[in-house]
Amino acid sequence: MLNVIIFGAPGSGKGTQSAFIVEKYGLEHLSTGDLLRAEQKTQSDLGKLIESYTSQGNLVPDELIISMLAKVLDTKMNKKGYIFDGFPRTTAQAEALKVMLAERDMKVSVMLDLNVTEEELIARLLNRGKTSGRSDDHFETIQKRIQVYHSQTAPVKDFYKKEGLAIDIEGLGTMDEIFARITKAIDAL
Ligand code: AP5
Ligand code: MG
Repeated sequence: MLNVIIFGAPGSGKGTQSAFIVEKYGLEHLSTGDLLRAEQKTQSDLGKLIESYTSQGNLVPDELIISMLAKVLDTKMNKKGYIFDGFPRTTAQAEALKVMLAERDMKVSVMLDLNVTEEELIARLLNRGKTSGRSDDHFETIQKRIQVYHSQTAPVKDFYKKEGLAIDIEGLGTMDEIFARITKAIDAL
């Protein structure tokens, strides 16, 4: 079983590379951002609560994310494994994931950290914002998301470094070049 965490700042290419990884390795893609946006779309009370965080570039509370992910893990069984995109985003989430997987006889195989300069992140997200319709793809919110990434999410890397699971991936270049670096890292496991 292959359980990959794809890690990196907003706009680093997590979603893009996840799609390639799913195609090549047959993993189930679990993106907390996609799950949250699907709930927001329904305009349920929960969706409105979620949007009050995401539209400001803030993280949704850990308890909500962790229970959402546990539910999805049980409904989307995949023997080949999973790719976690946008999760874990706090050390508390990383600890919860470890327990959640152990309870199901699974563990994280690798954490791939996409390294992209801030200038490039902003350029990519502003460009996507022209067509994405995402309420968080505006300059101020992009800056807030990057700031939140540095203060709350970047420390998650230390968690996986300690476990010997973190691998840096150069995240600049064409999508194909980056994917080639990723497959090299995965195939060497
Ligand atoms: P989430 O949906 O996870 O968004 P994000 O981390 O801000 O990242 P993005 O999805 O914007 O970027 P990406 O890294 O996937 O890059 P992409 O491939 O799209 O989270 C959104 C919000 O939900 C959070 O702010 C938070 O509020 C909440 N949330 C989600 N998970 C949470 C959690 N676990 N805990 C708490 N809250 C949570 O690429 C970006 C753009 O660049 C695209 O247009 C793409 O086409 C382009 N691109 C990709 N690769 C390249 C390349 N090589 N060259 C040029 N352009 C490229
Ligand atoms: Mg994404």
